[in-house]
Amino acid sequence: MTLGIGYLFALTYLYLVDIEPHNAEGHGLLQDVIEKYYGKRGGTRLGAALNGAMGDNITPAEKEKIFLWIKGGAKEEGFTALASIFQENCALCHSPESGLPIPPLTSFEEVAVLTTMDMGQSVKGLVRVSHVHLFGMSFIFFMTGGIFALSEVDIRWRSLLIATPFVAIWLDIGSWWFTKLEPIFAYTVIFGGFLMGVSLLLQIVISLAEMWIWNREDKRS
Ligand code: HEC
Repeated sequence: MTLGIGYLFALTYLYLVDIEPHNAEGHGLLQDVIEKYYGKRGGTRLGAALNGAMGDNITPAEKEKIFLWIKGGAKEEGFTALASIFQENCALCHSPESGLPIPPLTSFEEVAVLTTMDMGQSVKGLVRVSHVHLFGMSFIFFMTGGIFALSEVDIRWRSLLIATPFVAIWLDIGSWWFTKLEPIFAYTVIFGGFLMGVSLLLQIVISLAEMWIWNREDKRS
C-alpha cells in the first residue's frame, strides 16, 4: 500500500512539474515529452529576427554567413569573422549607447544570448535520472514482485506480471535517451510508463485483494 501511494505521488509530481506548466500552451502529453528530452529546436531568437525585419539591415550574403554560423553551433571561434557585420549594421541600434530597450549585439557574449537553442535534457541530467530510477524502481519492483510471487494467480500469468515492470522501465528510460535524438520515441516513453503503472497496480491490487477480500473460508483450514 505504501509503495502504491508513493507511486501515485510520483505521478502527481510528474504532472505538476512536466505537464501542468505547459497546459497554457495547449500542448498534449506527447509534445511535453518531446520538449523535455528533445527540446525546442525550432530556431534561435537571432535567426527569427533575421528572417523578419532585422534581415533588411544586411545583404543576403551576410545573412547566409550568420545562418551558417548558427547552424554550426554558434561557437566563439567563428564569431570573429562576423563581428564586423554586427558592428557595422546592428550596433548602431543594438548597443548600450543607443538607449533602446533591445539586446546589445557588440560582443560574442551578447550575441550568444540570442543563439542558444533548447536541446532538451542534458546528457548529465539524463545519466543522473536514469541511474536513480533504475536503482530505485527495480528495488520497488523486486518488493512488489516478491509479494505478488506468493499470489494464487496462474503461474504463467504471475511470471509475466512480475517481469513486465522490469521490461517496461527499460522501454521507458531507454526511450528518454532515444527521444533526445529522435522525437518519435516519445511514444515509447509514454507506452513504457503506462505499462509500468498498470503492471504495478495489478500486482498491488491482486496481492491485497487475495489477502483481505478473496480469502474464502474453505482456504483457511
Ligand atoms: C535601426 C535600428 C536597428 C538596427 C540597425 C538593427 N536593429 Fe534589431 N531591433 C531593433 C528594434 C527597435 C528591435 C525591437 C523591435 C522589433 O523586434 O522589431 C530589434 C529587435 C531585434 C532582435 C530581437 C531581440 C529579441 O529580444 O528577441 C534581434 C535578434 C535583432 N534585432 C537583431 C538585429 C541584427 C542581427 C541586426 C543587424 C543585422 C539588427 N538587429 C539591426 C532595431 C534595430
